[in-house]
Amino acid sequence: MTSFATAEPTSPLLVAVCNHKGGVAKTTTCVNLAAGLVTAGQTVAVADFDSLATASRILGINTARIGTYEVITGRCSIETAFLPTSQAGIWVLPSTPTLHLAEIEPEVISLNAERLRARLTATERCDTILIDCPPSLGAIAVNVIAAADLMLVPVQPTTFARDGLERTLEIFAACRSTQPRLAPRILITMADINDSSVRRIIDQIRHDHGDQVYPTAIPFDSSDKGLATTFVSSTDSAIATAYLRATLALLRDQRLCRAAAMRQQQGVLEIQPADTAQLSLPIQPPVPPAVAVEPARRETDNKENRAP
Ligand SMILES: Nc1ncnc2c1ncn2[C@@H]1O[C@H](COP(=O)(O)OP(=O)(O)OP(=O)(O)O)[C@@H](O)[C@H]1O
Ligand SMILES: [Mg+2]
Repeated sequence: MTSFATAEPTSPLLVAVCNHKGGVAKTTTCVNLAAGLVTAGQTVAVADFDSLATASRILGINTARIGTYEVITGRCSIETAFLPTSQAGIWVLPSTPTLHLAEIEPEVISLNAERLRARLTATERCDTILIDCPPSLGAIAVNVIAAADLMLVPVQPTTFARDGLERTLEIFAACRSTQPRLAPRILITMADINDSSVRRIIDQIRHDHGDQVYPTAIPFDSSDKGLATTFVSSTDSAIATAYLRATLALLRDQRLCRAAAMRQQQGVLEIQPADTAQLSLPIQPPVPPAVAVEPARRETDNKENRAP
């Protein structure tokens, strides 16, 4: 895989999608941003770090023999565990049932961000890995945050939304590593903007976090039946348009991440104040769904990873 930014072979960018609070559309955001990045020409993987395996199941993987747990503990390489999905250009690193017990294992307790990053980036199969974190951030998720290039926090604008956001930002601050990092990004999700109290909460979040908040809020879809549909595939919906706009903001952040990494490689150690990066973007109309192209390297579909 070649980088869209440098045309050099490179490892994927790691984007941790997390919030200490549950049910704020982390998984929905991962899946939709993955679809959005594919329409922008990228190959993407969704790494399912939730033992409930919602992202894996949305992407059509109901059971897998190896997945996140085996990769983070070094039992297998990420290459071996990737599975293709029904969505062209999207791979999944599936969650396996063993993951929920992993937090108490000595080798997981001793896991550090550097080792985790090395294991997750040992692939050239994709440009970006979107990491779907579980709610209630434990040891594994904290290491994911420390290892990632970018942290994106979906926030549903409800009364207690700020609690989850602030806890998540505290974790980011506590594990800020030496690798070049952008400030965390915030995506407002499931926003019923007809409700004045919701609008007030959004204004407050924008006031508190400024340019860290993506300009587009994902609207609440009252017709959602709890299926976390891949909204991007229905391009005429307001949610699809909003996720495509969020994708543009993410693409810009990816370029900032690559540029920061390149500066560091060249020995410019000063980290730029990316926190102030402008997020105003030329918004394009929704892109039609990607033409179904066979994912690259189809011959290595890791069929042996599908449980019987
Ligand atoms: N924009 C939206 N409008 C309406 N419903 C939505 C929207 N986005 C997500 N949902 C629904 O909200 C529920 C929670 O979404 P999702 O599973 O993505 O959240 P999560 O943060 O990953 O949850 P968890 O913390 O349990 O992992 C799902 O039923 C999903 O279908
Ligand atoms: Mg989830």
